[in-house]
Parts: sequence; structure tokens; C-alpha cells
Amino acid sequence: MYIEVKDAVKKYGTGESELYALNHVSLSLEKGEICVILGPSGSGKSTLLNMLGGMDHLDAGSITIDGQEITKLSRKALGEYRRKKIGVVFQSYNLIPELTVRENIRVVEDISQNPLPLSELLEKLGLTDHATHFPSELSGGQQQRCAIGRALIKNPVLLLCDEPTGALDSVSSREVLRMLAEVNEAYHTTIVMITHNEGIAQMADRVVRIHDGQIISNLKQQKKNVEELEI
Ligand SMILES: Nc1ncnc2c1ncn2[C@@H]1O[C@H](COP(=O)(O)OP(=O)(O)OP(=O)(O)O)[C@@H](O)[C@H]1O
Ligand SMILES: [Mg+2]
Repeated sequence: MYIEVKDAVKKYGTGESELYALNHVSLSLEKGEICVILGPSGSGKSTLLNMLGGMDHLDAGSITIDGQEITKLSRKALGEYRRKKIGVVFQSYNLIPELTVRENIRVVEDISQNPLPLSELLEKLGLTDHATHFPSELSGGQQQRCAIGRALIKNPVLLLCDEPTGALDSVSSREVLRMLAEVNEAYHTTIVMITHNEGIAQMADRVVRIHDGQIISNLKQQKKNVEELEI
């Protein structure tokens, strides 16, 4: 299996205030899958995503990605792994306001081993004509597509998205989701995306529902085209 989470446990606090953000979570994903994670606020979605991205440490259990058990890596090796192999997109775009679209993406290109061709990526992002624009000159959807470009330029094995359309209207959301579907198709990038929107879950190969730190359902499905989503 391409991604294997085994019996992952993450606790916060001690004694009375002890809380299991992840309570023995196990999950397997195939390469190239789009997995959507649904669940109420505080259920552990971001915690799981952070663990997959090597952004935090588990208390117990293991995570293996592309043959590498990342939970065994030293802090330094994990940082390196994350920089080279993992792309992350958040609800807020976190673009550098003083840099243009092209420059924002190039920041990451410079530190990548096998970057994707920038012009091809800009084309796919629909941002070729906006390459020299600053973030303040872009719509929300365009800014998020730029942020996705920054996550993708390194050609990550895994793209993690934490509510990437949370700040967008439905038209911009669809633009961004269309892009993610295209990227998944073109580069076979495995995508794990958190959303609150049941409509968005229809574009996934797999839908995982989390409640109180536990997976309550994990279903493969026939995914829908982004144009057909009711969002
Ligand atoms: N650094 C932390 N310290 C203490 N508790 C934390 C910390 N991070 C998360 N938690 C707790 O762990 C639980 C899971 O949080 P998480 O952020 O994973 O939820 P979520 O499903 O992403 O919620 P949302 O939909 O609101 O983003 C919550 O109860 C949260 O309060
Ligand atoms: Mg969250």
C-alpha cells in the first residue's frame, strides 16, 4: 500500500484534560487516490493531516509513505522529507504579498530536486496571464491556485489540503477543485483533502469520516467529475 497509517494515537493534555485527537486510527491509501476526510470541528482531521505531512509526532502507531516509515525518521530527516516530498495547501493561502505569482512559486522551485516545469504548471493553474501579478491583484480562487502551484512545483508524492476551498465562493471553489482533479490525473499525485462540504466529497475515490479521533467509515466510491459536484 502506498500510504499506511497504523494504529495512530495522538493525545493532547494530561489527567482531567486528556484528549485523544487521534484514537487508534488506521488508514491505507493507494497511489494516485483522492481521499476526502469529513468530520465535525475538533474531530481530528487537521491532526491526521499534520501527521501525514510529518508536521507533528504521533504518541503511538506508525505512518509509512512510499516505502518510508516517516514516524521513524529523526526530526531533521523528517523536515527534509517534508520539504522534498509533501505539498501542503491551507484554507488561507499564505502567499508572500511582495512577490508575484511566478516568484511565489519559484521560492519553492529553487529548493526542489525535481521541480515540474514552471510554465507548464502555470498553464495548468490557469495563471499564465497572471504570472507577473501580485497576490493583491488576484481573486481568492486565483490566489489559492497559486498556493496550490507552490505546493505542486516540487512534484510532491503527496498533496495535503486542509479545507482548500473554505474561504472561496462556489465558482472559485470549482476552479480550484477542477485544478486538483487535473493535477491528480496528470501527475498521479495522491491527494488527501479535508472539507466540510459533502458535495466536494463526491470527487474523491475514497471518503473517510472521522468522529472524536476515530474513523467511523472509510468507503471507496466511483468519483464524480468536478463539473457535476453539487457544491
Ligand atoms: N496543539 C494542540 N493542543 C491541544 N489540543 C489540541 C491541539 N491541536 C488540536 N487539539 C485538539 O485536538 C482535537 C482535534 O483537533 P483538530 O484540529 O485535528 O480538529 P479538526 O477536525 O481539524 O477541526 P476543524 O474542523 O475545526 O478544523 C480538538 O479537540 C483540538 O482542540
Ligand atoms: Mg482542522
